[in-house]
Amino acid sequence: MPAPGTNAPRTIAPRTIAIDGPAASGKGTLARRLADHYGLAYLDTGSLYRAVGMAVLAGGGDPADPVAAEQAARTLDPASLGDPLLKSAAAGEAASKVAVHPGVRAALLDFQRRVAASPQGAVLDGRDIGTVVLPEAEAKLFVTASLEARAARRVAELLARGEAADAEAMTRALAERDARDAGRDAAPMARAPDAALLDTSNLSIDEAFAAAKMLIESRTARP
Ligand code: DC
Repeated sequence: MPAPGTNAPRTIAPRTIAIDGPAASGKGTLARRLADHYGLAYLDTGSLYRAVGMAVLAGGGDPADPVAAEQAARTLDPASLGDPLLKSAAAGEAASKVAVHPGVRAALLDFQRRVAASPQGAVLDGRDIGTVVLPEAEAKLFVTASLEARAARRVAELLARGEAADAEAMTRALAERDARDAGRDAAPMARAPDAALLDTSNLSIDEAFAAAKMLIESRTARP
């Protein structure tokens, strides 16, 4: 380790961190830990789309209907974001369906940017954070994992919550969701050109956190 006073890189804690990646890649767990570690606010942007999807379903509507979905996005109450029902598989499906509508995405953009602009700084995770929501984020990660690893994690989560889950059906559902999220025209899931790639398939949560921290700090270090 270089002696103090030499040209050792000095780590500057980032103020905005953008984390994108597919469902069950581990990005949410990482984002939360990074937010705690750096003292930043945290916004799970998937919860916004989940809340919109559930609001449409609760009103008897179809998440594929752009008018109903945009109306739900415009009247979204941020207080509803903590509802445990939003974690369900049904909410994830509905979220992915409402997320294809440009009007829904536009209605949610301002809220996301306001959280990111909080004086404390913030970590946002989602699908289009590094590309569309916060293209100027100080640190960007694209977190991924194999389809099999992601399906196994999601099945374990659902079983732990007492929901039924089947590995094969989950693999199919995640593959379908990836295709919808990455294939839509409006702000598709994508790795920003300046996002560091982190594959968590074979990493424990602690290992993924250490790797993420290293990637972030190597990009925010100043000579
Ligand atoms: O991260 P999640 O599984 O909670 O996200 C649910 C869905 O919401 C996801 O399949 C696509 C959509 N989503 C999005 O389009 N853009 C985001 N920034 C976050 C989520």
